[in-house]
Parts: sequence; structure tokens; C-alpha cells
Amino acid sequence: MDFLDNHILPQSAHHIVLLRYILMLTLVILVPYLSFITGASLISLFLRKKGPEAGEGKYYKLAKDFADLAAFNKSLPLALGVVPMLSAVFCYAQLLHLSGSSVPGYLLLSLILFLVAAGLLSLYKHSFHFTDLFTYLGKEEIKSEEYKREIASYKFSMGGMFASTGFYGVIFLLVATYIFVGAIQLASQTDKVAEANDFLLLLFSFDTITYYIQFLFLAITLASLVMLYYYFRPSSEQKKLVSEEYAEYVKKFSLSTGLVSMLIIPIFLVANILSKSDVALTGSIFFAGIFVFFLLVMLSNLFYLMLRNNHTKHITSATFLMLLFLVVFVMKDQFAFNTATKDQYIQLVENYEIKHAEFLAEFGLGGEVISGADIYNGKCVACHQFDKKVVGPPYNETLPKYEGDVDKLANFILNPVKINPEYPAMPNQGLKPAEAKAVAEYIIQTYQPEAK
Ligand code: HEC
Repeated sequence: MDFLDNHILPQSAHHIVLLRYILMLTLVILVPYLSFITGASLISLFLRKKGPEAGEGKYYKLAKDFADLAAFNKSLPLALGVVPMLSAVFCYAQLLHLSGSSVPGYLLLSLILFLVAAGLLSLYKHSFHFTDLFTYLGKEEIKSEEYKREIASYKFSMGGMFASTGFYGVIFLLVATYIFVGAIQLASQTDKVAEANDFLLLLFSFDTITYYIQFLFLAITLASLVMLYYYFRPSSEQKKLVSEEYAEYVKKFSLSTGLVSMLIIPIFLVANILSKSDVALTGSIFFAGIFVFFLLVMLSNLFYLMLRNNHTKHITSATFLMLLFLVVFVMKDQFAFNTATKDQYIQLVENYEIKHAEFLAEFGLGGEVISGADIYNGKCVACHQFDKKVVGPPYNETLPKYEGDVDKLANFILNPVKINPEYPAMPNQGLKPAEAKAVAEYIIQTYQPEAK
């Protein structure tokens, strides 16, 4: 990603830490959103394949509900998908600057695929509503044969579009999320990147595969939970709009699907933590892993209770637990990333320091400030005191003639010449012009002639 690399400003240590927090925050939004939309559209497609072509069947209706949630409105994919993805690209580009990593590039690829998927899924959702409309119209007593035929043919072509938008939407989404997951896993595999083709590593590393399976089951769990929350949260009006029988079906389906998928997550959670490279492992990852596991156990308990007693009383607590789970789940991987990029961090800070010094120098502010006092104490004090003769003459005697002409004094210090026959010649001190000038200024200001 030379293009991105050229547009990076070197970051100071503080900024890098800040960027890491921003990245974590971004992923706390992005991972759950991508996961949810993947889960909802997968379930929708599955139910649609299961149910009859069109009509009022419960499969069909729930498929429509999931499609509606997945493509809730047009601004959601922008706010929770596109913007955080761009922010992630930006953060990774900064944090992996100079490492030659392709992670930001892969994330951009994933973003493009996601946009296509979001468009298709929005069409998929609309095609449900159109199909319903045509089904309804088909039932009406319409006299004109022509209209009837037209309605039938539209319904038919709608059906075709319906099937394909959903299918391709899900395919694009799966590829987009796979590359996304691969890229964020790749970012932590700093030890392997150098020696391998990183796109293959992204696609086939054990990290990516285990994380992605986790992600998919999380997706199903999350979509089921959101559906439950949508219908059964205490303040929801939604339940009143549907038949008792359908509400019962939504409850049973979402609770059991959610429960089964969340029970599979721990297996891949453990596998993913164990698959992490040594460079990424620290105690905090294990700790976060155990915490996440614990939250899952509590969550599945709540789901089990609700399923067994056939109610949805714990839906608010379950939602809260899920949110907590998602935050820790994402943080755990960012710990791994931070640990794995420790060397990279040091390199970036060093690079910043060099660039910063160059930048200051450009404006004449550069370099270290040379202190005349330091040079005097380091180099001259061995032979000179202000008021006593040592090897050389006391400054209080020799400096009055340089009063008002610091440059001349600096010149002498730079290239000492023989002056007073009572003393040996002063050896050259090997100072730079700026240093000679600084020490000259210092001694001129400090000495005390009798008259001063
Ligand atoms: C190794 C001893 C030695 C060191 C170190 C030394 N000087 Fe001298 N310096 C002398 C001697 C000896 C003279 C007298 C030389 C002469 O008169 O020819 C002298 C003379 C001078 C004079 C008087 C020149 C004049 O016009 O009479 C100045 C000013 C001076 N030194 C500044 C410095 C400064 C500033 C440093 C530190 C960067 C320094 N010296 C380090 C030995 C030293």
C-alpha cells in the first residue's frame, strides 16, 4: 500500500497509544455490526429456502423480518459499517506504517465488497415487500385480464430478483467479512508476515479460520438475540402487531437457534486463543478469554431458562450480557495486536523522533540546545577559573578586551593562538562553531572584571 504509506504522518508515542484506543473503539462497533448483519441475512436466506416461494407462511414471514432487520435502513450501513471501516483502515495504516503490511489494503477491499453486499441486501429486503404487494394484488378481484397478466408477470420477475439478490448479497457479505476477519488477524501475525505470501496467510491461517467460525456462530447468536429483543423487550409494540402463533414461533426459533450457536462458540474461542502466535500472547488475553467464556455460560443459561419455561423475561439482561461479551471479545484481540506490534511501535516512535528533529531543523529550531555553561564545565574548567590562575589565565583578567565582540572571542576559542608569553599555548578544544559561540557568550556574561 504505497499510496497509503505516502500519506502517513509519523506519530509520536502518545498518538500511537491514542490510535490504538480509537482502533479498539472502532472495532467494538464494527465487529458486532458486521456479525449481526451476516447472521440476520444468513438466517433470512435459510428460512426463505425452507418456506414456500411466497405467501404468509411463518418461515417466509420470519425470513422477511430478518431481512428487514439486516437492512434496517440506508444510513445504518454507512454509520456502523462504512465509517468505522474507513476509520479502521486509517488506524491500521498509521499503526502498521513502515512495516510493509497489506492489512489496510485488504480492509479497503473488504469495504468495497461490503458496499456491494449492503446494496444487494437492501434490494433483497425490498423484494420481500414487493412480492407481498403482488401477492396481495393477485388476490384482489381485478376485472381486467390485462392487469391480471401484468401482475402475474411482475410477481414472477420479482421472484427471480428476490432469489438472486438475497443469495449474492450473502455471498458478497461472507467474502467481505472473511477478508475483514483475515485482515485483523493478519495484523497480529507479525512474526509470520515477513516470510509468507500474506494473502494466502490471510485466507488460510488457522487464526483466520478459527476466528471466522467463531464470528459466524456469534453472528447467528447475535441476530437471534436482536430478533428476540425486537419482539419481546418490555416496551416493544411489535408483538401486538402479529398473531399469537407467529410470536410463539419467533420466540421458539430465536431462542433455540441462539442457544445452539452460542454453545458452539467456546470451542473455537479456545482454538483461536491457542492458535495465536507467541508474539501475541500475554496474560491479559487469557484473562479476557476466560471472562468471555464466563459471559457465554451466563448467556446460555438465560437462553436455556427462557426456552425451558417458554418466556422472554430475561431478554433485557441477556442483551446487556451480550453487549459486555462483544466489548471484551473485541478487546481481547486488540490486546493480541498491541502485544504483537510492540517492536513496530518502537520503530514508529524512533522514526517519529528522527522526522520530528528534521522538521524542527527545517525551521531553524532543530537539534539540541547547546549550553555554554555545560561546555565550560566539561571542557574549560580544567584549565580556567574566573578569578584564579590555573593552567590558563583567569577569565576576569583576559576577557575585558573581548567585551562587545563575542565573535572575536569565539574565534579565539575555535582556533587558539599564542598570546601571553607567560603561559603555554592553549590547545585546540575541537569545538563546533555554534559551541564556541555558546561558551563565549557564557563566559562573557559570567566573568566579573573589577569595573563591571
Ligand atoms: C589544556 C588547558 C586549557 C584548556 C582545556 C582551555 N584553555 Fe584557554 N587557555 C589556556 C592557556 C594556557 C591559555 C593562555 C594562552 C596564551 O596566552 O597564549 C589560555 C587562554 C585562554 C583565553 C584568553 C585568550 C586571550 O586572548 O588572552 C581564553 C578566553 C580561553 N583560554 C578560553 C578557553 C575556553 C572557552 C576553553 C574551553 C572551551 C578553554 N580556554 C580551554 C589553556 C587552556
